[in-house]
Amino acid sequence: MEKLVIVGPTQLKGEVTISGAKNAAIAILPAALLINGSCQINNLPNIVDVKLTCEILEGLGAKITWITNNSIKIDCSNINKTTAPLDLTRKFRASYYLIGAMLGRKKEIIVGLPGGCNLGARPIDQHIKGFEALGATVDVSQGNVCAKVDKLLGTHIYLDVVSVGATINIMLASVLADGTTIIDNAAKEPHIVDVANFLNTMGADIRGAGTDVIKINGVKELITNKSYSVVPDQIEAGTFMLAAVASQGDITLKNCIPEHLDCITAKILEIGGNVQSTGDSLRVWMNQRPQKATIKTLPYPGFPTDLQPQIGVVLSLANGTSIINESIWDSRFQYTNELNKMGAKITAQGQSAIFEGVNKLYGAPVYSTDLRAGAALIIAGITAYGSTEIYNLCYIDRGYENIEDKFSKLGANIKRVIEE
Ligand code: UD1
Repeated sequence: MEKLVIVGPTQLKGEVTISGAKNAAIAILPAALLINGSCQINNLPNIVDVKLTCEILEGLGAKITWITNNSIKIDCSNINKTTAPLDLTRKFRASYYLIGAMLGRKKEIIVGLPGGCNLGARPIDQHIKGFEALGATVDVSQGNVCAKVDKLLGTHIYLDVVSVGATINIMLASVLADGTTIIDNAAKEPHIVDVANFLNTMGADIRGAGTDVIKINGVKELITNKSYSVVPDQIEAGTFMLAAVASQGDITLKNCIPEHLDCITAKILEIGGNVQSTGDSLRVWMNQRPQKATIKTLPYPGFPTDLQPQIGVVLSLANGTSIINESIWDSRFQYTNELNKMGAKITAQGQSAIFEGVNKLYGAPVYSTDLRAGAALIIAGITAYGSTEIYNLCYIDRGYENIEDKFSKLGANIKRVIEE
C-alpha cells in the first residue's frame, strides 16, 4: 500500500506550472469520438482518469498514440463497438460522456453506470432528460445505461438543475443532430467553454458556452487532423493558491487563467492574503494568520465545491469561527473527520460545517476520502507540526499530475512511500 508522508510545517515558496484541466480532458477525449478520423490533443494532464478514459476509448476501437506524456493523437475512424468496457466505465464518473458522444457517433451505446468519488447521491436524470428530448430511448438496468436513437433531432432543453455533466453531455449529443438544440439553464464552468472550443475547432457550431443558454447548430460531420490544447486546470490552480495561503507562503502559478480564479482570489483577499496576476501567471502570498470567512459553494462563477475541502484547511487555521455551506454535494464534509484528527475543530452537520480556527495542526495518519479531500489533506500535512501519513492515494492520483513533485519543488517535505 502506498502512502504520502509529509513532515511539516513548511512555508511553500517558488513557482509551479499548472497542468491541463482534468474535467475538461475527460470530456474532450470522448468528444473525439464524434470525429470520423484523427485529431491531436495537447496539454492533457498525465493522471489516472485520463489514462482510464483512453483505455475505454481504445475498447471502442479508437487508436491512441502518445506523442509526449501530455499529448496524444487519437484516431476514431474505426469505432467498431457499441458496448463500452463495462468494468472500466463503472470506475469513474465521467464515463457518462460516452453516452452523449456515442449517441452522436454510432446512435447507440451501453456503459456501466458511472462511479467516481463518493460525494453523495449523483443522479444523471438531467442527462437522460436531454437525450430523450433529442429523440433517444434510455434504459437503466442491471447497473448499465443503454441508450439508442434512430435520428437525433435538435430541440429546446431546460435543465432543472445547473449540471456541468448534463450540459456537456447534451452538447456532445447535439453536435451531429439534425437542426438546432438550445440548452437553457446551462452550467458555465471554464471546462464547458473548453469542450465547446474543442468541438468548434473540429468544425462544430456551438454558441454561448460560458453563458446559461447554449445554442448548438447541428453539422453533418466534423473535420479531421486538427489539434487542440486543453485549458489550464482551474481547480489545480485553486488548490495551489489555497496551499500558499494555508502555509503562509509565497507561490507563483504559471500557465493559469487568472479570470477563472476570480472567486478564489476574492476570498483570499477577504481573509487577508495577497494576489497579483500578470498575463497567465498569478502570485499568491500570505503574511499573517488568515481571518475567518463564510463560504457557500455554488456553480461557476461561484465558489467551486471542488475547492471546498482545500479552503476548509485554511479556515481550520483562521483567526475566528468560519462557516462553510456546501450546496452542491450531500457528502462533502467527510474530510473534516480527518482534519479533526490533526487538531482542527470542525463540526459538520448536513450541508454546513462550523470551523473554530486553531493555531496549529499536528501530523497524524489520515485517509483521503475523495479526490479533493486528498488534496486538502496534503495542504494540511504541509502546514501541520510533525509527520502526516496520507492513505488512499488512489483518489489523489486520479486528478492531480505529479502532485508530490510539484509540492516538493515548492519546499514541502513530502514523499511517496510503499508500506508493507
Ligand atoms: C462535475 C465535476 C465535479 C464537480 C461538479 C460540480 C466532472 C467529471 N466532475 O461533476 O468535480 O464537483 O461538476 O462542479 O466534471 N444533478 C442532478 N441530476 C443530474 C446531474 C446533476 O440532480 O442529472 C445534481 C447533482 O446531484 C449535484 C448538482 O446537480 O447536486 C451538480 O452536479 P453536476 O454539475 O452534474 O456534477 P458533475 O458533472 O457530476
